[in-house]
Amino acid sequence: MKKRKLSIGLFGLGTVGSEVVGLLAKGRRELKRRYNIELHLKRIVEIDLNSEKAKMVPQSILTPLADDILNDPEIDTVIELIGSVSPAKKIILTALKAGKNVVTANKALLAMDGNCIAREVEKNNCHLGFRAAITGCHETLNYLAHTSTIQSITGIFNSTSNYILSGMEQANESMEKILKKAQKYGYAEQNPSLDIGGVDAAHKLIILIRLAFATTLGMNELYIEGISGIALQDIQFAREMEYRIRLLGIARRDGNKIEARVHPCLLPEEAPLSLLKGVENGIQINDRSIGQVASFAEGAGGAPAASAVISDLIDIAEGKSTIWPREASEKLSVKPMNSVKFKYYIRFNAENKPGVLARIASLLGKHQVNIKTVVQKEESHHNFTPIIMTTDEAKEENVHRALKLIDQLTVIREKSTLIRIEDLFPTS
Ligand code: HSE
Repeated sequence: MKKRKLSIGLFGLGTVGSEVVGLLAKGRRELKRRYNIELHLKRIVEIDLNSEKAKMVPQSILTPLADDILNDPEIDTVIELIGSVSPAKKIILTALKAGKNVVTANKALLAMDGNCIAREVEKNNCHLGFRAAITGCHETLNYLAHTSTIQSITGIFNSTSNYILSGMEQANESMEKILKKAQKYGYAEQNPSLDIGGVDAAHKLIILIRLAFATTLGMNELYIEGISGIALQDIQFAREMEYRIRLLGIARRDGNKIEARVHPCLLPEEAPLSLLKGVENGIQINDRSIGQVASFAEGAGGAPAASAVISDLIDIAEGKSTIWPREASEKLSVKPMNSVKFKYYIRFNAENKPGVLARIASLLGKHQVNIKTVVQKEESHHNFTPIIMTTDEAKEENVHRALKLIDQLTVIREKSTLIRIEDLFPTS
């Protein structure tokens, strides 16, 4: 068997980078035996040479200087695990221009600058590995890139949000407390508002849309809503109705139009994505040719992401990599969110007095929103009480119009909570 060797330069020695160093050291013999592959880590660039993680690696290969990798003609493959877009973009483009392959976990960069990276990959005839950008669903990337019959993608793409929502559900604890734990274990981004605000999931959805639908969407074309509006009581009320709340990313093709959105959803408790807890991610793909395809795996933390990086390195050593499609010549147009129809969960905080329910129902009715179920909770606070409604399918625009008027009523305290219901499987 032909021996294949990569000479590697690694940028970043954080949660994932240090795990990659460990896996490369541990897996050396096995890689040689199974694939006759040698993955030689020649240099590590890390700014903080005194960090605990820096002390654990061979000091002779550690450097604070990016050029020690970028200008080394022997290094043929660069792993970029810095995280933020800058200076990662410059590093990646310089590496590609120098003819080096690149492996990156940088979903923000791929989502926002995917075209310029695609051009350099092609021009310089390099490989690009990006499994770690979509750690929890990376087994499906090649399939998505090679299939032209995908109708929809639905998934949990952000581990921190899933850790928080499922953690609140299990421990009955506040979002704040559980986020602190997620940060402690290194799941959250350097700026956790990217996780909580749905932006990280949106980056990943843009990458998946590029693969599955050969179309490049800008961040401003997606509807993005995070989980900060979800209260512990919503999780509890949803459970009473046999639902779970999860942050979903959804892309659904309809002719030359596409729905592209990230927001919290109520899912039936038996839906596969409802079963995902902690840092688990999952993707359900609806393929016109073969039906449902699903994949579930942990989506954050050192070990899963590092294992995704190693898979990319093995592919590159074997002369192959996942396709990173060029800029699409024709774009699908994104359906305006206001025109999409959903079923809804709505929680009002209403004064407990005669006629209140009738006024809410009347405003919903005037906007063609049909109430399906209503529950008024006994536990009231200063005579205010939660009223929980679910609705039949209604147009997003109509629901917002009705809620705007309802929230202006003096009998309503605080903005009402609106969560869309996705009845996943079998109809997704
Ligand atoms: N912060 C990310 C998440 C890490 O929570 O999913 C993996 O991309």
